[in-house]
Amino acid sequence: MTPHASADQLIVESFLSEREERSLAFDVLDGLTKPFKELPPKHFYDARGSELFEEICALPEYYPTRTERAILQDRAASIMERTGAVELVELGPGAPDKARVLLDAADGQVERYVPVEVSEAALRASAETLVDEFPALRVHGVVGDFERHLGKLPTPLGPRLVAFLGGTIGNFPPGSRRRFLRQVRAVLRPGDWLLLGADLVKDPAIVEAAYNDARGITAEFNRNVLRVLNHDLAADFPVDAFEHVAFFDPRHEWIEMRLRATRPCSVWIAALNLRVEFAAGEELRTEISAKFTPRRLEADLHAAGMELDELLTDEEELFSLALARAA
Ligand code: SAH
Ligand code: AVI
Repeated sequence: MTPHASADQLIVESFLSEREERSLAFDVLDGLTKPFKELPPKHFYDARGSELFEEICALPEYYPTRTERAILQDRAASIMERTGAVELVELGPGAPDKARVLLDAADGQVERYVPVEVSEAALRASAETLVDEFPALRVHGVVGDFERHLGKLPTPLGPRLVAFLGGTIGNFPPGSRRRFLRQVRAVLRPGDWLLLGADLVKDPAIVEAAYNDARGITAEFNRNVLRVLNHDLAADFPVDAFEHVAFFDPRHEWIEMRLRATRPCSVWIAALNLRVEFAAGEELRTEISAKFTPRRLEADLHAAGMELDELLTDEEELFSLALARAA
C-alpha cells in the first residue's frame, strides 16, 4: 500500500493457492499430451510476460492498444454518463492506463474499482498507482482467474460496469467465449453494463504484421511460456530451439500463434514426472486471437443475455468497443 492510501482504500484478495496457481500443472499435462499440442494463453503472464506484453502494446505494428485507447479517450465521458456506474470491475487489466481514462472521465462518480487479474505483480502495481491518483477511490483487487473466480467479486455497491478490454475476449475459443460471457452476465444485475474491447476483421496483412513485429518482441512473448514451464514446473525446454509462428486463419478469422520445434526435442517436466517429445517441425499452439464482425459480437452478447447498446469504433474500423447492457 502507498503511504498516501488510507487503510481501507486498498484491499487485495488472492484466490490463487500456490498448488493450483493458474492451474498450470493441469493445463500442461492436458495440453502437451494431446495429439496436437496446445497451451492456454493465460500462462504467458508471469512478471516478464506482463512486461513483454507492455512492450508489444507500444510497438508500431500492434494497432489494438493505441486504437482502443483513442476510442476510449474520445468516448469515456459518454460511456460513464450512460452507464451511471458507481463500480468499475476490470477483467485482466494488466497496466492501469485504461482504467485511468474511465475513472478520469467519471469525475468522482465511481466509488470502487475492482480489478481481477491473474498476475499479482501487475495487479498490485496498478492498484497502488490508482489509489494514489484517485484519493477518493476504493480499490478491491482480486488476484484470480477470471474464468474461475468471478463468483468471488465483492457485493456490488450499485450500478456496475464490467470492462474487459484489449481484445482479450478473442483469446477464448468460440465455445469457451460464450461460456465466459455467460459467467460475466451472472455478475451483472439487469441494467448493469459490459464494456467489451474486440478487435475487428480486416486486411490480414495488417493483422499478421501486428503478431510478427520486426523487433521480435512478440516472438519473445510467445517463447516466454516455455520459460514459465521451465521455472514453475522444473521443465527443461531448450527455449531457443522453438521458433515463433503467427498466421491469420481466414476460415476461423483468427490469428494463431504457435511455437515450432526447429529440431527434435525431448523435454522432461520434472514436476509432472512427464516426458514430452517434439519432432522437428512439430508445432505447439499457444494462442488464438479472434477478430470480430459487429454481427458476431452482437450474437455472442445476445446468447449470453446481454444486448448491444452501442458499438464504438475508430475511423479505419480497426478495433471496437461494444457497450452492452444486461437484459
Ligand atoms: N486489458 C489490458 C491487458 C491485456 S493482456 C489491455 O487492454 O492492454 C491480458 C491480461 O489479462 C494480462 O494482464 C493477463 O495477466 C490477464 N489474464 C490473462 N488470462 C487471465 C485469466 N484467466 N484470469 C485473469 N487474468 C488473466
Ligand atoms: C491480450 N491479447 C488480447 C493479446 C492479443 O492480441 O491477442 C495478446 C497478444 N498476443 C500477441 N500479441 C499480443
